[in-house]
Amino acid sequence: MTARIIDGNALSARVRGEIAERATALTARGVQPCLAVILVGENPASAVYVRNKVSACEKAGIRSLRLDYPADVSPEVVMARLAELNADPSVHGILVQLPLPKQFDEAAVLEAISVTKDVDGFHAENVGRLSQNQEAFLPCTPHGVMKMFEAEGVDLAGVEAVVIGRSNIVGKPMAMLLTNAGATVTVCHSKTRDLNFHTRRADILVAAIGKPRFVTGDMVKPGATVIDVGINRLPDGKLCGDVDFESAKTVAGLITPVPGGVGPMTITMLLENTVISADRAAR
Ligand code: GUN
Repeated sequence: MTARIIDGNALSARVRGEIAERATALTARGVQPCLAVILVGENPASAVYVRNKVSACEKAGIRSLRLDYPADVSPEVVMARLAELNADPSVHGILVQLPLPKQFDEAAVLEAISVTKDVDGFHAENVGRLSQNQEAFLPCTPHGVMKMFEAEGVDLAGVEAVVIGRSNIVGKPMAMLLTNAGATVTVCHSKTRDLNFHTRRADILVAAIGKPRFVTGDMVKPGATVIDVGINRLPDGKLCGDVDFESAKTVAGLITPVPGGVGPMTITMLLENTVISADRAAR
């Protein structure tokens, strides 16, 4: 069996088209959606992510405000800028690219972002609302995965879902979204005993561990839906996911590639959250 491949680029293009239409309509009403993106330091991966986010905004008719700070900037400077952005009615979304340098208390920075402009969905209040299945800004990567399930007609009620990875950015919110959708969810991580026991039971397997080609075909249940959240750079410069695509695709029923799978959906959901926030401001 060879799995059907979920085309994240095609789905992204479709959703971004709808987002661009909404952005144009809002701009015509005098409210151009605007995302402020803060990057501290020179982490090369973060610099690429931020460049891609800013470029995606431009293409969708969303204004972006890019704010770069040196790695040794004092947290007070960034906090003061966040307060200004919170108070600025022309700014609808605020994103602080993670990770931050050592001198920062990451949780304090995320909570300094206005809940109503927290388009990354990392503020404790948005996380709490998600955990209670209330309306909230949803973290972009797991939200993008849920959009993929919806677009592919993947039924989540009652299925066994296994998430590998317990990060605040992906693993934990992914588990909450799957739980809210009615799946029976297991979260595995570096301390999990007998990982293969869990993964082989999974109707839906989400890999978010940050280890290249970690999930191999023998760990996958025949016919399962395999979602690869990993973006790893190999020594030869090529990108690969957390799933060994070649072996997994011979066992899975549905699978996402890397690149061209979850990655583009993450940015798409960021654009969507920014337009939603601008739409609320326009009312
Ligand atoms: N670092 C890795 N992923 C993300 C993300 O989705 N948002 C932010 N702000 N930082 C990240």
